[in-house]
Amino acid sequence: MVLRHLMSPLDLTVEEMDALLSLAGRIEKDPKKYAHVCDGKRLATLFYEPSTRTRLSFEAAMLNLGGTVLGFSSADSSSAAKGESVADTIRVISCYADIAAMRHPKEGAPLVASMHSLIPVINAGDGGHQHPTQTLTDLLTIRELKGGFDGLTIGLCGDLKFGRTVHSLIEALSRYDGLRFKLISPAELKVPSYVKASLKTKGIPYEQSERLDADTMAGLDILYMTRVQKERFFNEDDYIRMKDFYVLDREKLAMAPKDMYILHPLPRVNEISVDVDDDPRAAYFRQARYGVYVRMALIMTLLGIEEPA
Ligand code: NCD
Repeated sequence: MVLRHLMSPLDLTVEEMDALLSLAGRIEKDPKKYAHVCDGKRLATLFYEPSTRTRLSFEAAMLNLGGTVLGFSSADSSSAAKGESVADTIRVISCYADIAAMRHPKEGAPLVASMHSLIPVINAGDGGHQHPTQTLTDLLTIRELKGGFDGLTIGLCGDLKFGRTVHSLIEALSRYDGLRFKLISPAELKVPSYVKASLKTKGIPYEQSERLDADTMAGLDILYMTRVQKERFFNEDDYIRMKDFYVLDREKLAMAPKDMYILHPLPRVNEISVDVDDDPRAAYFRQARYGVYVRMALIMTLLGIEEPA
């Protein structure tokens, strides 16, 4: 079998992505059927940056498939603290595990690892760059809520500059037909130019705005909120100035379309007020639950595991 990695959502074709989401949907409906497909397989989680959902949902995914897990959850507790390169680390991990998920504060670190690896490497978030498995989670959620992707109007709000989930989601959605984006951010936190350039090349319409109001929310099918990425700021004053730029509360939500679902990759800080959680349009906790099923489907796909009959 050819060794495959997942660095960006574009590493999967649209057909592969749709097949993976469908597999995730089947796993959700009948998880018992998949309980032993990874017996004897091991996942390594190499996390050089904090995580709750991503690491634990990867681990839950492998355990649900009958496999085992090992790994570390911070750079200080690994040999990175002694100066080991990711290239050397992955060479060694390739002898201990069958597949690895890596999160790293430096953009491109999982890609470097994949170039030295004998096992599939999954990018579980690299700095402010990409986060393809969050995107799979987001896509499954949108597909369940809206029935598909074609023709949707998607609003993305918050830190669109450093928010890696935003970059991966825009790239993945850009391959479907008739989408439009509304990019809502402070001027200093706009989407990077490479993301915008790709929208322009594909002729996908997008609007940029600094305001989250009735006008910008009009016509949205999905509002994807994000937190301001504190850990990527050089200057704490800038972070403090921007951290509460957007707060989606009940009052604001009253101005939004009745069929606009709210997604958030989590963790939430202040950008969605807790009083929104009970609104039927709040879909972020459901979204977090889907993270396990897409990661189960991804592990099976990259390990070339056949679906049980
Ligand atoms: C995201 C991340 O790590 O980029 N979290 C996650 O994986 N669900 C979003 C964030 O940290 O803001």
